[in-house]
Order: sequence, then C-alpha cells, then structure tokens
Amino acid sequence: MHSFGFRANALLTFAATILAVICALASFSDTLNSPSPTAQVQVLSINWFQNQPNGNDEVSMTLNISADLQSLFTWNTKQVFVFLAAEYETPSNSLNQISLWDGIVPSKEIAKFQIHTSNKYRFVDQGSNLRGKEFNLTLHWHVMPKTGKMFADKLVMSGYRLPQEYR
Ligand SMILES: *[C@@H]1O[C@H](CO)[C@@H](O)[C@H](O)[C@H]1NC(C)=O
Ligand SMILES: *[C@@H]1O[C@H](CO)[C@@H](O)[C@H](O)[C@H]1NC(C)=O
Repeated sequence: MHSFGFRANALLTFAATILAVICALASFSDTLNSPSPTAQVQVLSINWFQNQPNGNDEVSMTLNISADLQSLFTWNTKQVFVFLAAEYETPSNSLNQISLWDGIVPSKEIAKFQIHTSNKYRFVDQGSNLRGKEFNLTLHWHVMPKTGKMFADKLVMSGYRLPQEYR
C-alpha cells in the first residue's frame, strides 16, 4: 500500500504536468491570434515652440490619441504597455525617437480608448532641428503574457509637421 506522502507527491506531479501543458497551450494559442490594432493621433494644438537658451528646440503639443488595442488581448494576456513616440530624421541621426506619452492597459475592456493630453514627456531635440520638421507618430506596444514570450509591434502614422516658426 502506498503511503500518504507518496500519493500526495504523485498528485502534485500530475498537477504540475497538467499546468505545464495548459501553459504551453496558452502561449501556443497566442501565436494563432493575429491582432489588428488601430490608432489615430491628431495634433490638436502647438502650445508653445521655443529654442531654449542651451540651443535645443522644445515643443509642447496637445494630442488626441485614439486606439483600439482590444485584438491584442487573449485569455493569456496579462497587460499591454503602450507608448507614443515622435520619430524624425536629422542630419546627424537617421532616427530620433522621443517618447511623448505612455500607458499600461490592464484589460481588454479598456483597450479601446481616446485620450486628450499634452505630451507627458518633453519633446526636446538635441539641437535646433525642429522648425518645419516632418515627423511620424508611432504607437509602440509590448504585450506581456501570463505565460510565454513577450511580443512587441508598432503602428506608424506619418505626415505630421512642426511649424516653421517658434511661437
Ligand atoms: C479625437 O479623435 C477622435 C477619433 O479620431 C474623434 O472622434 C474626436 O472627435 C477627436 N477629438 C477632438 C477633440 O478632436
Ligand atoms: C516615417 O514614416 C514613413 C512611412 O512609413 C517612413 O518611410 C519613414 O522612414 C518614417 N520616418 C522615420 C524618421 O522613421
């Protein structure tokens, strides 16, 4: 006859095996989900645009960010980290990336949102390159699963331009 300890141990091993299989299925089912998030961002206003005493350009803007990230959520999704970056080219760098806003989306129910905000982080150029500058606004996201690998992707919105003059 098996001792109680032996049976408890066998039961635990069985439970752990089941759990491992469920985790594998969960992360596999994520690979079957092909998400199609959407986003629109409007620059509602340029609050001010200046050349700082240290020679760097800085701009403050009000943004209208709307996004539908619901398709990123599966039953294996813990949360989604999103950030909106201004991306532009300068003579010394082919890609300047400045995070303007970020957030954590904890559930599918609120993954469709609209936010009216001024840039949460400073939009400063290391130089005076921003007058008349064309830029992209890119929404980046990192999906953090309950189990399995994290994945990241982005949506590029182009066609934005800063004013020609400081104001
Ligand atoms: C913000 O964008 C959404 C979606 O593009 C639009 O419906 C809404 O009217 C905009 N809000 C403002 C204040 O422009
Ligand atoms: C902005 O977006 C356009 C179109 O997707 C792309 O060709 C360009 O390289 C982007 N610019 C930067 C600085 O990433």
